[in-house]
Amino acid sequence: MDVRRCMIVVVHPTEQIEFAVESLLRGGDGLSRTLAWQALAPHLDAPVSLGAEAQAALGTFSPSAWTTISADEAGSAALAPLLAGGLLLQRGQDSEAARRDERLRATHWHPLAAVMHAFSRWEDVDAVRNMRESQIETASQMRRTLGAPPPHAAVVDGGSFPLARQPGNEFDALLGRRVTCRNFDADRPLPLAMLSQMLQRAFGSSACQREGDDLVFLKKNVPSGGGLHPIEAYVVVCNVDGLPSGLYLYQAQAHALKPVDSSTDIDRDFVMSMVGQQHWFADAHVLVVLAPRFNRTYWKYRQHAKSYRVVAMEAGHLSQTLYLSATDAGLGAFITAAINEKPIERALGLDTINEGVLAVCGFGWRDSQMTTSELDPAGHVWHPAAQAG
Ligand SMILES: Cc1cc2nc3c(=O)[nH]c(=O)nc-3n(C[C@H](O)[C@H](O)[C@H](O)COP(=O)(O)O)c2cc1C
Repeated sequence: MDVRRCMIVVVHPTEQIEFAVESLLRGGDGLSRTLAWQALAPHLDAPVSLGAEAQAALGTFSPSAWTTISADEAGSAALAPLLAGGLLLQRGQDSEAARRDERLRATHWHPLAAVMHAFSRWEDVDAVRNMRESQIETASQMRRTLGAPPPHAAVVDGGSFPLARQPGNEFDALLGRRVTCRNFDADRPLPLAMLSQMLQRAFGSSACQREGDDLVFLKKNVPSGGGLHPIEAYVVVCNVDGLPSGLYLYQAQAHALKPVDSSTDIDRDFVMSMVGQQHWFADAHVLVVLAPRFNRTYWKYRQHAKSYRVVAMEAGHLSQTLYLSATDAGLGAFITAAINEKPIERALGLDTINEGVLAVCGFGWRDSQMTTSELDPAGHVWHPAAQAG
């Protein structure tokens, strides 16, 4: 049979540490350590553990040229796990691994970015429970558990060239009122016009430039690497007057919402899972999934060392624009990267080779009571007496 290695794989030497009484009895540190090779291949769903023989054999196959192997070789201890695990692929193989590998070859991911993206996605993670169990929920707990952090700035004393502080204007006041919102008012639906204004400002397109029939550059309020604007905004409407709750795709040029026909129930459980069980964000009136079409950016920046960074930075620009638009409208906003990407990808029906999820933002009316902490030391949003401890 003819085989070749999958397009992208990184082999990672791992160590699994477990508590072991025998080690203690022998005067050791009470831990057992298991070393293993793990193959991280983004066309597969999970890491594949490899023995030393298989790990060494993997490096002997080309990802581009086919190699003919015998049936005996295919069944050997070195090659059988590679074939079974989807790391070595047969010519003409009809499997999900082979199809995903073919698509990955066509997408121009930088290999390290592809591995990083694929293996940093969560499923069923409860970020709140994790923080509680790690004892890093509050500032004083963090200090106790983690010790002293690096200083809050690279240089903390006065500089050699003191700069005169400039008088503030309305824009400074707006910046001052931008405070991540963790207290939404569930009793007050958001008017549709406010949703419309928010989407228009943060994600809308005001003009476009065409080069021929199929190369279109949209103009938006945020910068975008290569002007390609790869990030789509999927809108989860939870509490908006005049708009049925559910999942929509925002169309930037048409300024319209297209309902997404999802196989997932877009209910409270789904929203909680989206935001890693952070109930303070699940209460938002509207949540927005920032979902890049990576292949749009990688069309220009092929196997480029910076292209994933470029897309990730664009998410930050969108989020800050959303924050400031919300602040200007008298609303609260948030962003979180502590998200369960995998159920979101399924709900959105994404092709996870070309598309993905980087973060979830949201906005809505801020509650009058602060139940979950917000960071407003200058009291721009909350009167000091109302601030949660
Ligand atoms: C990329 C990113 C991810 C964040 N993720 C979370 C999160 O998971 N949960 C949360 O409560 N806040 C999250 N935040 C908000 C920060 O905690 C917040 O920005 C920070 O405490 C400073 O407060 P401020 O935004 O009110 O100035 C995130 C912020 C950024 C920029």
